[in-house]
Parts: sequence; structure tokens; C-alpha cells
Amino acid sequence: MTRRIIIDTDTAQDDCIALLVGLLDPDSTLEAITMVAGNVGFARQVHNAFMTLSAADRLGDVPVHLGCERPLTREWISAENVHGDGAGGMHMDLAGLAPESEHGVDALVRLVSENPGEIDVVAIGPLTNIAMAIVKDSTFAENVRSLTIMGGSNNGRGNITAAAEFNFFVDPEAAVTVFGSGMKITVVPWAPLTLNDAVFGADKLAQIAKIGTPLARFFTKVCAATLDFDESVGIFGTTHPDSLSAAVLLHPELITSVSDYNVQVEASSDLTRGYSAMSWGVHDLEPNAQVVESVDSEGFFDLICKLLSAPTSPYREIAGLL
Ligand code: RIB
Ligand code: CA
Repeated sequence: MTRRIIIDTDTAQDDCIALLVGLLDPDSTLEAITMVAGNVGFARQVHNAFMTLSAADRLGDVPVHLGCERPLTREWISAENVHGDGAGGMHMDLAGLAPESEHGVDALVRLVSENPGEIDVVAIGPLTNIAMAIVKDSTFAENVRSLTIMGGSNNGRGNITAAAEFNFFVDPEAAVTVFGSGMKITVVPWAPLTLNDAVFGADKLAQIAKIGTPLARFFTKVCAATLDFDESVGIFGTTHPDSLSAAVLLHPELITSVSDYNVQVEASSDLTRGYSAMSWGVHDLEPNAQVVESVDSEGFFDLICKLLSAPTSPYREIAGLL
């Protein structure tokens, strides 16, 4: 079944692969890309989104809207120590390309209000734009068909601190707003799900390299840049929580275990800022989200390989894409 989706992204590394899923999967119609402050500098994220559109030969087909350039109440924190420029050093000349003049939050509000119950949103960065849309339009939460969130950890470790995953850490107030909104939410957490089921180690990366298409080379270049960092923190491969989020929305059959949870995000403590308390149904709390617990990891990998096998050639030259 084809889904009409918006991807809200801080485009670097696996965000690029999530955009490829939204652009290339036959079950997806990508209506818009909305940008939020997160992984790397805002302008660099916008560049990475346009470059990904070019890699998929879809430049000009999908609008890119600039959203919030900082979290709701806090200073922006980046993950440049993990992602570098988020593009493996590749570069594309943006001359003649421009994002939409409509703000990302306004685009979310407009597209959802014009199409009630039709649009699925995949949020793979800090939740600032989504929280702003909820605040701006009181019908937004009820009119979104579903929201898939990459964020938090399900009673597992964080990645930016011991307690917190990056997206929730950057804008915990936004996460509090979103989980309190009543939206139909599915969460794809960092631990244990991503670490168990969405890390591509050396064997898988070699299989992708063998595909040999420009898209596969794009994947290798964008993702390989994080390998040294991953290894330094004990993860032996590239991590794919963002593309997994898009994949489970489009292909729920990939999910092998999912349960109702009450999810609350810590916004007042310094020590546990962004921590996600995911209560699994035994603490007498109303569920406000479904949390994905495990997926068919080989099925997910096969999907990525299939999409990267498409024989596209970049719309516009990408320097460094060998
Ligand atoms: O914690 C993982 C998340 O933060 C992903 O969305 C990735 O883009 C990152 O840096
Ligand atoms: Ca992201």
C-alpha cells in the first residue's frame, strides 16, 4: 500500500539513506522534506538533502522546506563529532537550487490540514518542527495519519550520554510536547533495537559495495565516514535507525515485535536530560506510543540493497562520488 509521507530530518549519514527510502521505495510518495536543527550545520544539512535528491535523480520533484534552526528553548548541539559533514566529504554545487519559501512547520501544518488522515510523518531528527506544528495548529495531532519517531532508548543505553539518545537530548521539551499530543506514534529507538537489528557490519558493507550502482557508491561514501567513530564506541558497523524508521512505516511486515508503551521524556534534569522512560504496560500508565522491539534485520538489509540497486545516475554531478 502506497503511503504519502513527509520526512522531517537533520540530514546527515543515515538521514540521507532514509530520504533514499522515501524517494525510491515504490510504496512511498514523498510529499515533502522538512529540515530541523540537529546533526550538522543547518546549511550543510540542506546541502545534504539536495545532494541526496540528486543521487536519486529526483532533484526538483520533492520540495525541501527549512524548519526550525534551533531547539525550542535550548542551544543547538550538533553531532559533527560523529558525522563530520554528514556526507562523507561529497559535495554538490547548489547553484540554481533553492528551498521553498514556506517554512517547514507551515508546510507540515498545511499538508496535514489539506489531507486529514492521509499523511504519515517520519521524524528522524530532534522533534522541534513536529512540536511547533502541534502548537501552531490544534488539529495537527489528530489529522496526522501516523508519526514514526526515531528517538530514545527502550530501557537501554543512550548514545550522546549514558541516559539519552541524541534526538531526544537535543530538544527534550519538543519530545515532551509530542508524546503528550495524542498522536498515533510509533517509536524506533536506539537501544536495543538499532544496535541489535540495524547495524551493517563489514560483510554487509561489502555486499553493498558490490552492487556497484551510483546509489550504492553514495551509500558507501555517506555512511563509511562514521565507521571510525562507531568503532571507537564499540559498534562494529554503520548504524541505520533513520532508514529503519522509514522502512518500518512502509513495510510493517518487517516488524517482528512491537508493544504499547507509555513514553515520557526527561526535560528537567541535567544528568538525565532527554532520557526516555519507556513503561511497558505494568506500571498502570496509559499507553501513548507503540515501540518497535525487534525487526527482521535481514529483511531490512535486503530492502536497502534492493533500493540501492536502482540504476539511477545523479541528476547533477556530485564531487567525490567515485
Ligand atoms: O541517535 C541517532 C539519531 O541521531 C539519528 O537520527 C542520527 O541521525 C543521529 O545523529
Ligand atoms: Ca537523524
